[in-house]
Amino acid sequence: MQKRKLQMSEGWLTQYQRSIDDNATFWAKKSEIIDWIKPWNTVTSGSFQEGNVKWFEEGILNVSYNCVDRHLSKYADRIAFYWEGDNPKHSQALSYQALYDRVNRFANVLKTLGVKKGDVVCIYLPMIVEAPVAMLACARIGAVHSVIFGGFSPVAIADRVNDAKCTFIITADGGYRGGKSIPLKTNVDEAIKNCPTVEKVLVVEHAHNINNWNDKIDVHYYKLAQQVDVFCPIEPMNAEDPLFILYTSGSTGKPKGVVHTTAGYLVYAATTHKQIFDLKDGDVYWCTADVGWITGHSYVIYGPLANATTNVLFEGVPSYPQKSRFFDVVDKYKVNIFYTAPTAIRALQAEGDDAVLANTKRDSLRILGTVGEPINREAWHWYHDKVGKGKCSIVDTWWQTETGGVMISPDHTQYQKPGSAMYPFWGIEPAILDKNTANELKGALTAHDYGAIVIKRPWPGMMRTLWGDHKRYMDSYFNVYLGYYFPGDGAYRDKDGHYWISGRLDDVISIAGHRIGTAEIESVIDSHEAVAETAVVGIPDAIKGEVIYAYVILEKGITPSELLKQDIMEWVRKTYGPIASIKVIQWVPMLPKTRSGKIMRRILRKIAHFEEQQIGDTSTLADANCVKNLIANRSDYRIVKKGSQ
Ligand code: WT7
Repeated sequence: MQKRKLQMSEGWLTQYQRSIDDNATFWAKKSEIIDWIKPWNTVTSGSFQEGNVKWFEEGILNVSYNCVDRHLSKYADRIAFYWEGDNPKHSQALSYQALYDRVNRFANVLKTLGVKKGDVVCIYLPMIVEAPVAMLACARIGAVHSVIFGGFSPVAIADRVNDAKCTFIITADGGYRGGKSIPLKTNVDEAIKNCPTVEKVLVVEHAHNINNWNDKIDVHYYKLAQQVDVFCPIEPMNAEDPLFILYTSGSTGKPKGVVHTTAGYLVYAATTHKQIFDLKDGDVYWCTADVGWITGHSYVIYGPLANATTNVLFEGVPSYPQKSRFFDVVDKYKVNIFYTAPTAIRALQAEGDDAVLANTKRDSLRILGTVGEPINREAWHWYHDKVGKGKCSIVDTWWQTETGGVMISPDHTQYQKPGSAMYPFWGIEPAILDKNTANELKGALTAHDYGAIVIKRPWPGMMRTLWGDHKRYMDSYFNVYLGYYFPGDGAYRDKDGHYWISGRLDDVISIAGHRIGTAEIESVIDSHEAVAETAVVGIPDAIKGEVIYAYVILEKGITPSELLKQDIMEWVRKTYGPIASIKVIQWVPMLPKTRSGKIMRRILRKIAHFEEQQIGDTSTLADANCVKNLIANRSDYRIVKKGSQ
């Protein structure tokens, strides 16, 4: 008699082993998660050393087709997006058929305006349905989108638009967050005064606040949309054609335009999304990230839509109009999978369970995800025990703009260790290097002897270059530890083989999970008329993870005052955007510099962290008295003033 075969689905770890033993065969099989117009010939080629990694070469496909068209035969009526406005009275449900209709129209509007395959289109929109629609419309016609977070200010917009030489900007007349309106179009008007390449601004009416209309540049989206054809054919794209650029902060001044290409990115986003979140047919999934960040790209748009998921798209903030808003929305749409950031979890935890949880059920939840920064134990336990009532798996996903998708994550079927991201995803081979010798650290490590985390082999979702600056790509990520991809984070592997991420090793501050380069902020502060020179470091913050401590030298003749501090803080909010929260400004007569003029940020960090005993060697300082002076005039932000809470 023939034995019955056991029909067990392969677990994460078994698949992981296969992905490492025979990487090419593994990804060849996984590439079936998407539909190809023409199959690829080579699974992967190129290397980190040469900076020429490619996946699924010669394959032809279209991302918009994969995220929308191909689902229509089965899921035309399935909801693609439940859109929930900042104002709870505003919502709409968009089926896959409706999404298809909107994407086609939007694509034809872009074509009518002259957008062509390969053009870079800037998208600066609030969290409205037109954000995914605009992104998919670009993908449909082969234009490369560059989404800029709606919280960025005109200067930050102009920097990014100029770097990519965009000719088109898609924006809205306004958006809402926490009951406040955001003047997106006004910001764009201001930005393009310094953007010589911009020819057209396509304006989606959302806040009914159309003003300062300039007929030469501005185009009203809905008016034009009525005039175009309802169907737009898909553009066949090569696997390695760029899909989008997304700017992120590095440790030097200029933001980096991370470039993701078509096939590898989509295969990776879809595969990780399906596995890590245990996606089941019919699930309602909500990732709270803004589309302006990579989480919004990979896990609000591309991964979930490639998997025909029903998503929630939320315009607002976690606690408006009431503290329980996040979980009211979870109950309203019966969300099964919820993905947010530690900063939001901590902020809600601080509001108290009565206000945040008591009047919500949260019974639909099954998987709770977190991303953006290490999650502290208290927040992890509150998320697991209270939000998920002890019944949900917590997936603490470590990844980056550059990696395209999740790199390290717990397995939802196994025990999850609070604070640890745990296992490398399929095909990801990490190592921990000694920061100084670059030797691989093989044994069990602890939080005290962490090293630099690196990745040993290419994966489909990795970025392919930095826009217009391949040298910087090589220098920042591949020439630091030769033969490895270096993400910039510290980490250790414990005795069970689980990975723990300890934070950035470079001059990047993580405020509420957003990466902000110290040099970028310094140049903004320096541009204030009263300021001569600045150095900033990150200091701990209970909710935001980190905030900014700024050491500022004033121009000669300027009198320091509290008012001036407020003015500088306001300047940074206006010039960079509100995410760059400065907690402390300390006036200083000089900065600790080496004789060659390099600021010793390590010293500034130790002083701001009240760890001056650990400053160590200061013999290379040009002026040894500098440190004493900085300590003597330090501001103690740890003391919470009465009434300031
Ligand atoms: C940096 C990447 C990936 C989307 C959001 C941020 C930190 C991210 C975790 C985590 C510890 C994390 C790292 C990383 N980070 N997730 N689960 N545990 N740290 O994307 O702006 O490119 O920032 O965020 O430092 O390098 P990003």
